[in-house]
Amino acid sequence: MNFKEQAAGRAMDYVKSGMALGLGTGSATAYFVDLLGQRLQEGALNDIRAVPTSQATAARARGLGIPLTTLADLSAPEGAVPSRPLLDLAVDGADEVDPDLNLIKGLGRALLREKIVGMHARRFVVMVDESKLVSRLGKQKPLPVEVVPFEAQVTVRWLDSLGCRGELWLEEDGSPAVTDNGNYLARCWFQDGIAEPHALARTLAGRPGIIEHGLFLDMASLVIVAGESGVQILEQSS
Ligand code: A5P
Repeated sequence: MNFKEQAAGRAMDYVKSGMALGLGTGSATAYFVDLLGQRLQEGALNDIRAVPTSQATAARARGLGIPLTTLADLSAPEGAVPSRPLLDLAVDGADEVDPDLNLIKGLGRALLREKIVGMHARRFVVMVDESKLVSRLGKQKPLPVEVVPFEAQVTVRWLDSLGCRGELWLEEDGSPAVTDNGNYLARCWFQDGIAEPHALARTLAGRPGIIEHGLFLDMASLVIVAGESGVQILEQSS
């Protein structure tokens, strides 16, 4: 069993019958979805509804008979203020995890839906192998940013003003990578990592043309890390 599979196995401990779940995207999530499908088929779990964060996850879950739903269907009737989070739990992978459990996500191209789903969960559980733990975000991997196709090259050039090298994410044939939402993606490469993630997140959020970015700050409730020395749980201190 590889490390991501081990982390996914531990994440199953947090799933109880009757829960509404958010399902992330990526290889760790794929292991989790497979296990969830297996438990439902065995009857060890029942009455689960899940909101997928990508077409790929939706297809995998559907193939295993996992009942899918939407945040809208889980919402309170029109006009009522929801009294609790719509999802009991969202489970997802990550590209990088820093010591404060802040994350870079989205190198699997699903960051927008992952963030929308994750923010509606009572608990956001992240599954990674130990290679994803970093001292500072953005030192080893680029930060993905979802951008509007209109004048995308101009938006990408603006990213350079943030102290990174921005590039439009291209497929092998040179065409722009397109998300499930029909948008383009950029990647920001920071030579020394991201010194102030919160300030950067605010700046990105305020720029027309940028739809969402891969900084998931103060979102993870806990991170399940699998590695050579076994599986450990990192939890938010407050
Ligand atoms: C998807 O857009 C990403 O946020 C993934 O969650 C992330 O890339 C981790 O993927 P793996 O579980 O495949 O490492």
